Amino acid sequence: MKSKQDIIREVADYVREAVEKHDSGHGWSHIERVVRLALHIREIEQRGDRFIIELGALLHDIGDHKFSVHDGPAEICRVLGSMGVPDSIIREAVSINENISFSKGKHNISKSIELQIVQDADRLDAMGAIGIARAFNYGGFRGNEIYDPHVGLNSSPGHMTDSARSVSTVHHFYDKLLLLRDLMNTQTGRKLADERHDFMVRYLEQFFREWNPETE
Ligand code: ADP
Ligand code: NI
Repeated sequence: MKSKQDIIREVADYVREAVEKHDSGHGWSHIERVVRLALHIREIEQRGDRFIIELGALLHDIGDHKFSVHDGPAEICRVLGSMGVPDSIIREAVSINENISFSKGKHNISKSIELQIVQDADRLDAMGAIGIARAFNYGGFRGNEIYDPHVGLNSSPGHMTDSARSVSTVHHFYDKLLLLRDLMNTQTGRKLADERHDFMVRYLEQFFREWNPETE
């Protein structure tokens, strides 16, 4: 087997190319942030295998329905297999890819610590200042309005799986982004989520003050 460092470098090169065609909210910069955040959470938690976390974070969005590759697990087996990565590690990376998102993940499975950490990192990147930027970027990409005052805000409360179809980007906060804090797996994730959540709440307060100047 090649060195772990060489494998990480080769996988990063592969992913950078694979995500090139995505809108910027799903692109390489998102992957890089998730890798850094996941490794940061691991440092503080002092738990989880570093190699599996880094591989899992790099490969977490491969096969996403918005991507060109559709069968993530098959692709991950092919890429890691060709580098001589042991089957046990390939299985961990595949499990992270399969279970990371709310819609794709099997519910009620017991999550490995590595999956818990990468999932926290991925969700944290949808929150806070960066989460706000990604949401408006994605909404623009889809041609959505920033806000539609004619539709109630809890249009589909708790239905996170439908949130890609949010009426407007501000609706997406209520369909998904404000629900993420309570889904954190680790204590470190929860602490980081608290700050990012509060920032989104303050942002929305300001947004509505500006939208309704009579209340300013
Ligand atoms: P993940 O990458 O965690 O699987 P998604 O693919 O659902 O999450 O979303 C990626 C990014 O796009 C997130 O920042 C998310 O908030 C944003 N997004 C998804 N759907 C919408 C939407 N309908 N309006 C605005 N932003 C959205
Ligand atoms: Ni992601």
